[in-house]
Amino acid sequence: MGRVEGKVAIVTGGAGGIGSATCRLLAKEGAKVVVTDVADGQNLAREIGGAYHHHDVTSEERWQDIVTGVEKKLGRLDILVNAAGIEGDMTQGTPETSLKEWKHVHAINLDGTFLGCKSAMPAMRRAGGGSIINLSSAVALMATPVSAPYGSSKAAVKHLSGSVASFGAADRIRCNSVHPGLIRTRMLDDIHATRARAKNISFDESRSLSVVRVPMGVLGEPEDVANLILFLASDESRYITGAAHVIDGGWSVGGTAK
Ligand SMILES: NC(=O)c1ccc[n+]([C@@H]2O[C@H](COP(=O)([O-])OP(=O)(O)OC[C@H]3O[C@@H](n4cnc5c(N)ncnc54)[C@H](O)[C@@H]3O)[C@@H](O)[C@H]2O)c1
Repeated sequence: MGRVEGKVAIVTGGAGGIGSATCRLLAKEGAKVVVTDVADGQNLAREIGGAYHHHDVTSEERWQDIVTGVEKKLGRLDILVNAAGIEGDMTQGTPETSLKEWKHVHAINLDGTFLGCKSAMPAMRRAGGGSIINLSSAVALMATPVSAPYGSSKAAVKHLSGSVASFGAADRIRCNSVHPGLIRTRMLDDIHATRARAKNISFDESRSLSVVRVPMGVLGEPEDVANLILFLASDESRYITGAAHVIDGGWSVGGTAK
């Protein structure tokens, strides 16, 4: 018996680093998984015996199609993981950030997550309850000199998650935010590559600048975050809602690797 046996899950950004690790783990633990992304997730869906749908999370209409289709085909919706996200331009301070960039990052990271919660809650109510897991970030809890749109959107996801938890509790709908630190995915690789170019240093040097700021001295793996998401998706966490779960090797509490 898997830890999420028989449950039906939608994972947005399911073709990405954290998303795909989550899809694999949820499927391994018995869930029927619907992978959605703007990137291709067909091979992953085949591998885990799930389904893939092309899905831009900023489209409210598409959200309705996806949730309606899942209920029709699989009978219910129990789990939603909002993992779709972008980092935006991580080199710009606030004076250089355009309004277009600010809105674009918020549209995907915040509006997309809001639309997911809004669309999934009625279906979860019909299923007798559910669990929503929103990918925020450790940077939602700390100010950074650059990338204000990313930090702002992720801080707002934390607030949204609390609001959804509070409203959904009467219907047994739980909602938690997950706050990863530095996790080895395409997103973090691109951030390190961009910084390497800006500072005229190598990729490895750029990555080392991050690693020394993590007390545990290593980057996290997508599977580390997937393990936390699995716990929050399962009934093992049935009394946990509205909470912010940091997973960052100690990055946000400060200190350096020895
Ligand atoms: N990697 C990290 O260090 C880290 C740290 C903190 C938070 N996060 C968050 O975790 C989540 C997953 O990130 P990741 O590291 O796996 O990055 P990733 O780039 O590997 O995955 C993100 C996925 O989101 C998809 N996506 C982008 N725009 C979309 C849209 N409009 N509609 C649907 N899908 C879209 C991308 O195609 C991609 O597959 C993101 O929300 C990210 O902000 C990551």
